[in-house]
Amino acid sequence: MEKKVRLVKMLLMMLICVSAWISAESTDNIDSYRRLLLENGLGATPPMGWNSWNHFFCDIDETIIKETADALVSTGLAELGYKYVNIDDCWAEQERDSEGYLVPNKKTFPSGIKALADYIHSKGLKLGIYSDAGFQTCSNKMPGSLGYEQKDADTFASWDIDYLKYDNCNNNYTEPTKRYPPMSQALIKTGRPIFFSLCEWGEMHPAFWGAKLGNSWRTTTDISDTWDSMISRADQNEGYANFSGPGGWNDPDMLEVGNGGMSHKQYVVHFSLWAISKAPLLIGCDVRDLSNNTYKILGNKEVIDVNQDPLGIQAKKVKKDGDLEVWAGPLSKSRTVVLLLNRSVIRSTISAYWADLGVPADTSMEVRDLWKHKTYDKAFKNQLKFTMEGRSCRMFILKPLS
Ligand code: GLA
Repeated sequence: MEKKVRLVKMLLMMLICVSAWISAESTDNIDSYRRLLLENGLGATPPMGWNSWNHFFCDIDETIIKETADALVSTGLAELGYKYVNIDDCWAEQERDSEGYLVPNKKTFPSGIKALADYIHSKGLKLGIYSDAGFQTCSNKMPGSLGYEQKDADTFASWDIDYLKYDNCNNNYTEPTKRYPPMSQALIKTGRPIFFSLCEWGEMHPAFWGAKLGNSWRTTTDISDTWDSMISRADQNEGYANFSGPGGWNDPDMLEVGNGGMSHKQYVVHFSLWAISKAPLLIGCDVRDLSNNTYKILGNKEVIDVNQDPLGIQAKKVKKDGDLEVWAGPLSKSRTVVLLLNRSVIRSTISAYWADLGVPADTSMEVRDLWKHKTYDKAFKNQLKFTMEGRSCRMFILKPLS
């Protein structure tokens, strides 16, 4: 009898070991690993939408948010995927109520956030909100959620919020790896899938630990509407390419396209870099007042499709010759996206060889230009070579013909 018990015990142990081994193997698959940990099922592709900060800063109210939602729909941007309407800082009263709940600012959001969420949802869109892993948000105009994580997560869920951007100001100097998990867990505990965007500015390299907590993480400090600011954020974000993927994305900050500080060509570079870097595409301009040129950039479906490619692999800088660069990455269906980037101020020629792209030299490629919306008649072999203006780019998808 004792022998039998020992045998059963041994068999049980073996079973436990095998199942532990199988689950360890499956954690190698980073996607299922993230899903397991996040349990919110969101972020299969980078989020797309709009955020109030880059254009309005603290000057927001419920009318602006509603009119923005209307404009996303009427311009067709919503249909192209821009679904999140995200309120940034300054939406709440300075003080919590007597029971410790956050209170929407009575002057600027008099109807409350739940009514706003109902409006946004009635348009087929999603509503995002903002808080901070500190005592106050960065504006110092409203409370942060440190110590109130579950209360605030429950409040957001009760308002039917779909997205939370969680900032890093005014904290108690403990590590972000201690201050972000409570909100991550609190959001999951609400049972409502809420996209969790970590806004830690890349200080403690959230790319290394963010995927266990959230669906995206800022890799940089705040962008501003200049070429240098934009391009340096793309560079910094590129260093973390290996850590991005379905479920959790590197975030080099929101788009400045349409805010007026860069030329049209520079904004094309900005949008192209964000798209191939699988960055969140969060519009940062006033979509109620969209110029044709801005629409041509934000509404370029071919470029959006690169960003939303199901493979979700962030492109990398594969070649650098001074200010002349080639960025590239794999797409689904054996395709490759290539960006020829002239960072200098003078007209220059850039070549991308198939060897730079990891493709056999004799492969014949069909080449599609994503900004000219044209496929070349001739097949390309071994290289792409184009001349372009200073501070501009060309963006292509290469498809093997054989
Ligand atoms: C920080 C964030 C910005 C914005 C502001 C709001 O600077 O990084 O994106 O949310 O706070 O105050």
